[in-house]
Amino acid sequence: SGMITIDPGYKNTGSCESGITFLDGEKGILRYRGYSIEDLAEKADFLEVAYLLIFGELPSKEQLEKFDNDIKSKSHVDEDVKKILDGFPKTAHPMGVLSSLTSALIAFNPTSVNVSSEEEMYNAIVKIMAKFPVLVAWAMRKKEGLPLDYGDNNLGYVENILKMMFKKPNQEYVQNDIVVNALDQLLILHADHEQNCSTSTVRIVGSSHAGLFASLSAGISALWGPLHGGANQAVIEMLEGIKEDGGDTKKYMAKAKDKNDPFRLMGFGHRVYKNFDPRAKIIKKAADEVLGDLGVVDPILDIAKGLEKEALEDQYFVDRKLYPNVDFYSGIIYRALGIPTEMFTVMFALGRLPGWIAQWREMRLRNEPIGRPRQIYVGENLRPFKDLNKR
Ligand code: CMC
Repeated sequence: SGMITIDPGYKNTGSCESGITFLDGEKGILRYRGYSIEDLAEKADFLEVAYLLIFGELPSKEQLEKFDNDIKSKSHVDEDVKKILDGFPKTAHPMGVLSSLTSALIAFNPTSVNVSSEEEMYNAIVKIMAKFPVLVAWAMRKKEGLPLDYGDNNLGYVENILKMMFKKPNQEYVQNDIVVNALDQLLILHADHEQNCSTSTVRIVGSSHAGLFASLSAGISALWGPLHGGANQAVIEMLEGIKEDGGDTKKYMAKAKDKNDPFRLMGFGHRVYKNFDPRAKIIKKAADEVLGDLGVVDPILDIAKGLEKEALEDQYFVDRKLYPNVDFYSGIIYRALGIPTEMFTVMFALGRLPGWIAQWREMRLRNEPIGRPRQIYVGENLRPFKDLNKR
């Protein structure tokens, strides 16, 4: 069996070779398929980035049109899925609903399970790209007590998502370009981040040749945790808490540094970025612009800026190379767009979908072996069995 070294949290263990995302945590560089995140966030739209991540190249006009049309042709979600949604209480967290419904889609699309040829993979991919935004919107509408709405195939991918989320009954839906562009950019910034917790989950579940939807459902569950995608909800709840407590950021800085206090500064720190998170830089600027453009004044933005300034000057944070991460400012934008707090991590999942798909596809095309880490056993040695009445 050879030598086994344990590496808790896989801090220094590579799980695969990948050609999708390049990340240099020391220099704060992030690239999808060789294109800088700054360029993509500014010049591409989310569907182009999805294509790029999944298939490796920026699409030509024809390729993009075909991808878009193929997705639109699959955007119907079986009416019976609504019955499953109906079974959840309104108080259910939308991440749990999303993970469950993604899993439920397997039952309605059995041909998408055992895929191995590129064509079968493509069909499963366009199906989930089409149906996932519907589930996202439904999860929100359920929470808000709104009737379920279907998309409009005349709209762009992101425009359609917003319409499905926000269209009110008996009211015409008016599209706001500032909102569309802001969401498009946020989704691009979240679209992939190499072997993070949820992506590694998708790859390891998929490595047993469980289907794409099952792998994605597991990825959604992994993303939910507050140390990962759940941080965006946790950041806003933290900022609101600080505001209600009088806005004393110094008090919370002290708590974050106190090793006997479980409180952490949510939205700070990253496993790989030890300089700055390039996504956070773009998002901070976008938050200022979006709030300005929409005329939203959010006192929480000031608290966030105050905390960031203090943390960047604080020896504890400097020594540990803790910088604001992607989740620190994203929630402030989501709030300005009118998205409820419990939906923030769902929006992250929506953005990460193409990354998960790309990583799953790469793993399958490379014929990677089943993921199966080893361990070092530290339990009891062999002992004699004790009968129940003697225990
Ligand atoms: N507040 C206070 N102290 C912190 C924080 C924080 N947010 N993050 C790390 N530290 C300290 C930690 O206590 C440890 O100190 P010491 O060396 O004295 O024991 C040191 O910094 C290293 O932290 P770690 O927990 O060993 O680092 P990690 O790589 O295992 O964890 C992390 C990375 C992102 C889970 C962690 O920084 C964290 O919990 N941050 C808050 C949650 C958060 O914002 N998560 C979103 C991450 S980015 C997007 C995503 O992945 O979805």
